[in-house]
Amino acid sequence: MTTSLQQFPARSTAADDATSARGEFRRVMGHLPTGVVVVAALVDDAPVGMAINSITSVSLDPPLIAICIDNKSSTWPQIRAAGSFTVSILPAHDHQAPRRFSGPSENRFDGVGWHSHETGPVLDDSVAWIDCEVHQEHSAGDHTIVVARALDLGTAEDGQALLFFRGQYGHFIPATRTS
Ligand SMILES: Cc1cc2nc3c(=O)[nH]c(=O)nc-3n(C[C@H](O)[C@H](O)[C@H](O)COP(=O)(O)O)c2cc1C
Repeated sequence: MTTSLQQFPARSTAADDATSARGEFRRVMGHLPTGVVVVAALVDDAPVGMAINSITSVSLDPPLIAICIDNKSSTWPQIRAAGSFTVSILPAHDHQAPRRFSGPSENRFDGVGWHSHETGPVLDDSVAWIDCEVHQEHSAGDHTIVVARALDLGTAEDGQALLFFRGQYGHFIPATRTS
């Protein structure tokens, strides 16, 4: 389906247009499969964290990643204040984790296994983790692009990452050889 972000019904209000444009932008971008991670820090010895899927590697030397954070987030300012944070890549079996880590912000870690790294809490079930410190921030529309330096990182011995595609969660199935 092709939709121009400029083309909306003539009788709609500007607010309707903006809402439709946002929805269409999300719908189209949802066709790019991503992983889902939890970024987290220890705040007054308690773990705080949020689910995000906007994460990418940026630089090998130095090792940098970027994440995009909604300026309305109430959790990010707490993580930002800590200066360092962890990234836990969620496992395929845990479809509930994104909901948990994007829902009501109190007690998101209740009943969740985690252990402490120098930069913050890492989920026990994560298939990979990165210890990060904030390196740079760039304002970008209604989000902030946070560039962070990877201080340490690792993977579980085995594990499938949770995938997010068109609003649904699933897992990776390798293509079979046909020849
Ligand atoms: C699959 C998924 C991906 C998300 N990706 C992002 C993201 O890239 N950036 C972001 O700021 N919020 C993202 N969110 C939303 C945040 O998790 C959510 O807005 C945030 O936790 C709200 O709570 P807060 O006010 O406590 O920060 C995502 C949520 C889900 C379920």
